[in-house]
Amino acid sequence: MAETISILLSEEEVDSRIQKMGEMISKDYEGKQIHLICVLKGGVFFMCELAKRISVPVSMDFMAISSYGSDTKSSGVIKIVKDLDESITGKDVLVVEDIVDSGRTLSYLLDMLKDRKPNSLRLCTLLDKPERRVVDVNVDYTGFQIPDEFVVGYGLDYAQKYRNLPYIGVVHLEENK
Ligand code: IMP
Ligand code: MG
Repeated sequence: MAETISILLSEEEVDSRIQKMGEMISKDYEGKQIHLICVLKGGVFFMCELAKRISVPVSMDFMAISSYGSDTKSSGVIKIVKDLDESITGKDVLVVEDIVDSGRTLSYLLDMLKDRKPNSLRLCTLLDKPERRVVDVNVDYTGFQIPDEFVVGYGLDYAQKYRNLPYIGVVHLEENK
């Protein structure tokens, strides 16, 4: 099955929103250092663009996770594929995600990080699909709320493709191709 992509949020729209988010975050964390945590791989494009627009000191770490169980019945229980390199104890941690969907993965991840005793723990996501939420997750910074469509680009993939698109697009599946 082939697919086509239509633009939902243009490169300009995404970039200018990230600029605003960077300014907002810089203001909120004035006088502090932010420890950014990127959830691989989807969050990586957003985190790099965001980090460039934050004016307070920043450090970064990366984590890779995978979900247990089948795709259809995600428990939200996650397995750490790559853990953080550094301790987060006492740090002002900002988790940077590509998208919050059901909220299962993030709620589990945030609980786990909380146990490591950071000074503060906040969540920043480029995209949010509120209609899809199953588990309550407190999102501190949201780029865009989007409708319940499958999107790609800016780090988000469809079967590992399209992460490199500089815009957010909706995937349309085309049969007979
Ligand atoms: P959830 O919030 O636990 O349901 O999982 C969110 C994860 O599902 C995200 O980090 C993405 O990896 C993936 N995901 C959810 N919606 C989309 C989408 O529209 N496009 C690409 N990946 C998505
Ligand atoms: Mg993700």
